[in-house]
Amino acid sequence: SEARLKILLSHLNTGNTSFSGLSFGVPCRQASAPQQERNDYVIIPRNPMFTPRITSREQYSRMYMDSIQDPSTFWGRLAQDFYWRKGWNTSQPLCKYNFDVQRGPIFVEWFRGGYTNICYNALDRHVLAGKGEQPALLWEGNDAGQDMRLTYQDLLSYTCQISNFLLARNVAKGDRVCIYMPMIPELPCAMLACARIGAIHSVVFAGFSAEALAGRILDCHPKVVITCSAFKRGNKLIDLKTIVDASLQLCLDRENFSIDTCLVYHNHRASLREDTSWKGGRDLWWQDVIPGMAKEAPLEWMEAEDPLFMLYTSGSTGKPKGVVHTVGGYMVFSAVTFKYVFDHQPGDIFWCTADCGWITGHTYVTYGPLLNCATCVIYEGIPVWPDAGRYWQIVDKFKVTTFHTAPTAIRTLEASGDKFVKKHSRKSLRLLGSVGEPINSKAWWWYHDIVGEKRCPIVDTWWQTETGATMISPLPWGWPLKPGSATLPFFGVQLAVVDQNGNEKHGACEGFLCIKGPWPGIARTLYLNHDRYEQSYFKTFSGYYTTGDGCKRDNDGYYWITGRIDDVINVSGHRISTGEVESVLNAQDTCAESAVVAIPHEVKGQGIYAFAVLVQGATPSEELKRSYLLSVRKEIGAFAAPEVIHWTPGLPKTRSGKVMRRILRKIACGEENDLGDLSSLADSAVVDDILKSKPSQ
Ligand code: WTA
Repeated sequence: SEARLKILLSHLNTGNTSFSGLSFGVPCRQASAPQQERNDYVIIPRNPMFTPRITSREQYSRMYMDSIQDPSTFWGRLAQDFYWRKGWNTSQPLCKYNFDVQRGPIFVEWFRGGYTNICYNALDRHVLAGKGEQPALLWEGNDAGQDMRLTYQDLLSYTCQISNFLLARNVAKGDRVCIYMPMIPELPCAMLACARIGAIHSVVFAGFSAEALAGRILDCHPKVVITCSAFKRGNKLIDLKTIVDASLQLCLDRENFSIDTCLVYHNHRASLREDTSWKGGRDLWWQDVIPGMAKEAPLEWMEAEDPLFMLYTSGSTGKPKGVVHTVGGYMVFSAVTFKYVFDHQPGDIFWCTADCGWITGHTYVTYGPLLNCATCVIYEGIPVWPDAGRYWQIVDKFKVTTFHTAPTAIRTLEASGDKFVKKHSRKSLRLLGSVGEPINSKAWWWYHDIVGEKRCPIVDTWWQTETGATMISPLPWGWPLKPGSATLPFFGVQLAVVDQNGNEKHGACEGFLCIKGPWPGIARTLYLNHDRYEQSYFKTFSGYYTTGDGCKRDNDGYYWITGRIDDVINVSGHRISTGEVESVLNAQDTCAESAVVAIPHEVKGQGIYAFAVLVQGATPSEELKRSYLLSVRKEIGAFAAPEVIHWTPGLPKTRSGKVMRRILRKIACGEENDLGDLSSLADSAVVDDILKSKPSQ
């Protein structure tokens, strides 16, 4: 029975995720990691009102085999659901690629020779099919009572007006447009408007600082920046335009780079026009220019491999990587995964709580749902405003059928108590999703029992910015779930678990999660940095795309993601590299050097623990700590601020001067008794010094 399963589960969850034998060192136990593989299945009874797309593992396996054995036929058939101005070359394979650096440059191409437009497929196609009056976006503002409803026709007209504006400002195919906006309908519209005319959008999450925004602007040199005067998140007011101004000033000071046009949406819910900082000539009010534009706009027919967008994400080291996705493959893969993973049915109301500043907001707020002519909810605010029942109030208000969120939100709401959930009916819900980090079993069961009242399957979807869309996920009602496992690969996804020597393992095993062949949604390059693309994903294990995640595969072939095994930390689903935070700390006058590691965090999944060595003469103080934290917030964003700053006299280093993070992770996680082999340290006395200086938490 379920109660028994839970007891069993709590016994099993003593938490051994040790990754013996992996060369990147032993990650510390994560609060959010699936702590133990179990063989307990959860089977959700079928809803008699719907016939799911996939009804058995056998049916899935047949389709999966087709997708691997004959990808041209499989994906070619699915791609026919879209409008192609000109069909792809049929005289050659649908996909050409090289994943092996020894054989030459890495490349992937899908649908070569085909011409299409993703905005046309997401909007015009549905309007032409008579769906213009169907709601496309149901928007809910930060404060209750603020909402908006846009049909497919509204969305098309609005998008065209923005496209026309961009064209009037000389934005052409291949030009970059930077979008830095809160979750208002104008954000996806601006993305679609770029896609329509072939401009490459680069959306920057509105939680990033002026400094982080400047770095992204200087990397891709956009022609236009689209932003918003200000917005509210919970009871906080964020003066976005001031941040943009500071950022554009930094661009000017640093590289003498300036933009001609900054389009500013006036958010009357949060600010007055006259209070907004302004630079005449460069800045234009959205409301002054967009409504006057024609509601029909020309389209740029794009070759399948033309770039669609870029999105910055954190890598192991150095500055953020501008991940580039192309039109054809991304369109097909985002749409098909949406359709199957969320078992999309006519009449569904889909709500993904992600922000468009992250890949999930690109694929499952904007492109995937709209390509499927879905109706989606967009919410501007946070889960706990004005109270922890807000999500469920919105679910009831819009009769949401499919709800997709991140484990960090689930844990936050779980901590607030069941009463906030139970106050609302949630009877419209039929499917739940989780994305962004491993979901721990406690949160999984709460989501399943309390939110979904045991009647909704949970699709735990594993993927990355670089993969474009979901790669591992249950297909609802297709096969039994196991809490904490993303289960099986999506069609066309060939997973491999490899050991530290790059040898593929078979059967039940654990190791590095890699991908063997190309899938349509794979990122094609890093913006103007193909070397780094090859280096980051294809050089670790020859012939494979390396994900950077560790995983286990159980006897049923189910995959269990155990988290990053590189220097990427996942805080509330936000990817942050240790190097990014260290470079901010190292830039402080008083800081000699620093090292940053992940610690388990109840709500965020992982938190950041920073070790800092002060220069001679500097002394640790609360004030210094505050200024360090402030600098991280300022340079990166509030979400990257460390939980702990540990002032230490030194860092553990090998004789060649490499910091031994393994030891620091153990110390940060309170596992001092299990530091392992210290013989390669240049000076093992430093370990005692670090332990002695550990702050009480
Ligand atoms: C982690 C977000 C476990 C993983 C879509 C990956 C997950 C990184 C899951 C990518 C999941 C994402 N279970 N871990 N269901 N989903 N991750 O690029 O470590 O922001 O490599 O893409 O998040 O984060 P990104």
